[in-house]
Amino acid sequence: TFRCAKALQLTLAVIKPDAVAHPLILEALHQKILENKFIIVKSKDIVWQRQDSERFYAEHKGRFFYQRLVEFMSSGPMRAYILAREEAISQWRELMGPTKVFRARYVAPSTIRARFGLTDTRNTTHGSDSEESALREIAFFFPEFSAEEWMERAEPAFR
Ligand code: PPS
Repeated sequence: TFRCAKALQLTLAVIKPDAVAHPLILEALHQKILENKFIIVKSKDIVWQRQDSERFYAEHKGRFFYQRLVEFMSSGPMRAYILAREEAISQWRELMGPTKVFRARYVAPSTIRARFGLTDTRNTTHGSDSEESALREIAFFFPEFSAEEWMERAEPAFR
């Protein structure tokens, strides 16, 4: 029998300190998530210690922007979301636009980073870039959350 091949996918989305500092931008981004049919599975507001930031971005250690990235991401409150929908990872990344804000403004002017980003570091949002990093990053922000358990319960309802 025919069954629609829809599959739920989880991603981690983070609203970075530059955007959380502006309540209207934070609200606009929250609306954007809802308008784009993401299920908000969990969310939390969090402030990182410098060590959290260093651990999260360990893969970028040694790159020229590492210090400023680590410092910025522990400079104030952030909001983290676990989001679910079909193609959640690529859909959220498409909404964010390219990492580099000036490039985003040029090639994708209606994206989040193009509209609200300030610099390549203060670029408003983060999104997981693969299923593997989504699981790792979700566990980093929400250690108590079981993606497997959630999927088991949510998938049948979504079909
Ligand atoms: S790369 O080259 O593909 O690994 O870079 P990318 O994954 O796009 O970005 C890595 C994170 O570093 C932040 N950052 C910068 N990237 C590039 N150039 C400069 N100058 C820079 N400064 C900071 C960038 O915002 C990415 O952060 P996340 O939180 O992963 O979006």
